Amino acid sequence: MCGIVGYVGPRVSERALDVVMEGLARLEYRGYDSAGVALVDHGHVATAKRAGKLANLRHAIEEHALPEAATAIGHTRWATHGGPTDENAHPHRGGTDGKLALIHNGIIENFHALKSELIEAGVDFRSETDTEVAAHLLARAYDETGDLTEAMRLVVNRLEGAFTLLAVHADEPDKVVASRRNSPLVIGMGDGENFLGSDVAAFIGHTRHAVEMGQDQVVTITPESVQVIGFDGTPAEGKPFEVTWDAAAAEKGGYPTFMEKEIHEQPHAVADTLLGRTDAEGKLTLDEVRISEEDLRNIDRIVIVACGTAAYAGMVAQYAIEHWARIQCEVELAHEFRYRDPVLTPSTLIVSISQSGETMDTLMAVKHARAMGAKTVSICNTHGATIPRESDAVLYTHAGPEIAVASTKAFLAQITACYILGLYLAQLHGGSEARNAAEVMRQLQEIPEKITDLLGRMERVREIARFMADTRSVLFLGRHVGYPVAMEGALKLKELAYIHAEGFAAGELKHGPIALIEPGQPVFIVVPSPESPHSLHDKVVSNIQEIRARGARTLVIAEDGDESVVPFADEVVYVPKAWWMLDPLLTVVPLQVFACELATAKGLDVDQPRNLAKSVTVE
Ligand code: G6P
Repeated sequence: MCGIVGYVGPRVSERALDVVMEGLARLEYRGYDSAGVALVDHGHVATAKRAGKLANLRHAIEEHALPEAATAIGHTRWATHGGPTDENAHPHRGGTDGKLALIHNGIIENFHALKSELIEAGVDFRSETDTEVAAHLLARAYDETGDLTEAMRLVVNRLEGAFTLLAVHADEPDKVVASRRNSPLVIGMGDGENFLGSDVAAFIGHTRHAVEMGQDQVVTITPESVQVIGFDGTPAEGKPFEVTWDAAAAEKGGYPTFMEKEIHEQPHAVADTLLGRTDAEGKLTLDEVRISEEDLRNIDRIVIVACGTAAYAGMVAQYAIEHWARIQCEVELAHEFRYRDPVLTPSTLIVSISQSGETMDTLMAVKHARAMGAKTVSICNTHGATIPRESDAVLYTHAGPEIAVASTKAFLAQITACYILGLYLAQLHGGSEARNAAEVMRQLQEIPEKITDLLGRMERVREIARFMADTRSVLFLGRHVGYPVAMEGALKLKELAYIHAEGFAAGELKHGPIALIEPGQPVFIVVPSPESPHSLHDKVVSNIQEIRARGARTLVIAEDGDESVVPFADEVVYVPKAWWMLDPLLTVVPLQVFACELATAKGLDVDQPRNLAKSVTVE
């Protein structure tokens, strides 16, 4: 995530700082670990940056005024590489003359290799960010070419990963040069002034004429012109469009709620969480490791602790870790784990999962485990939060800030991170699956596109949800990795629509829950892939028949092409085919959309459901 703004206006107006600060305020939902601006003023570049929310930067500027300027860039950060500190805040300076400043949204995957090369060439680094690498490369390319656009083009051809970069240079004061690959960037077309932003919210107060940039393009804006070229230097053109939303809706990207927006951001949440996970030798890595490889190799038992949605991600992790790493793995609600006097030894690994990294129940479980001598790994979406700080190792999810209280994109990012952790542990333990890690990663890379495809087919799910707005009870069944999906589907419906909902393991049905089935009872069934092992698919199809025979209204989620469910389903929602272990990244999506739509049809506030809080910092 991260929000970026760029502005060039007429020399006489000198209001660049105001425009950029206003844009940052509108983009603050994209990240608020730090904020910073750079202004170009009569042969100098002035910068100000501060850790924390935009208000901190505002105070800093009030205390030490910045010069008036007609050109500026601004950044609000969601930390990925390097903690949320003043030094790591953007803009970053390149070179030694202080004439160039750069901001970045995304992750530069090959920054380790580029950084080593620059250090060898004598460059001093001031921050721990991947961004500073791009700033130094750009300054060096500028020294060679004397042209900011050409320098940018040369640099982006050396970068791998996802990035939007914006740069200004003191010697080209009427210009902002930007580039994008796999990260968002839109142009705002003004009258004698032009804008750049992560999304239109950045400039909605000034213009509604926008231009969408293509992939792998460089754009140069001046007060009077906008020029786009491809990374290969050939002239290109963006796609103009008119913004029809107002400023408030713009922060939600045109979606009616943050939840809808976050559901649609899921392909990015998964793709970004997969970025930069392998080192130069192709080995999987964690983000922060304060524990020896040997200690990790000696782990003989794993306990996953989490609460709410994160605990369901943990249930998926249990299947993946045991299958791939062949280490005994359990999952437990953090608050139950903490106070039952669990048996913990130095060879126990506690894996905590938390979007916020501040959930008190999870934090207490982690602290207790450490005090008892166990090792701890944190999977977290918030850089520098308490739980990752208290842990021996960290794997960050890159879902970006999640504003809606009920978790959606963070859940998919957590599951993705759990798969990465499973493969990482398999690699350490030398399990047979370690050899397949590259293949699993390749299959994971295909998931974001499949989620996008799936999100495009949700109209029928929405119709069903609206039709069911008065329903009083819904059941969810799943098996194997589909079981946590059923639990999460039920939780979403409880949280958002205040409907009685329960998730069951499909195999458990005959041991009790089947007594709940009466004519018309709606039941969602998450059907395993026909390719899943041990005939799990056929077993669940039999369960559908059993409840259908007793009058249940069966709402079946099945893989594309699975015709076997059709005779027993009142409705079938098909999801794209994926390898069976990765199915939860797809099968949960219709259940999120269903709960969100049904709650909306009931006129409820899906972003802030009653009685709930995003981050529960009490036990
Ligand atoms: C709260 C939220 C849930 C969330 C849970 C865990 O209960 O309402 O949506 O799943 O906390 O939060 P965490 O930040 O630890 O993932």
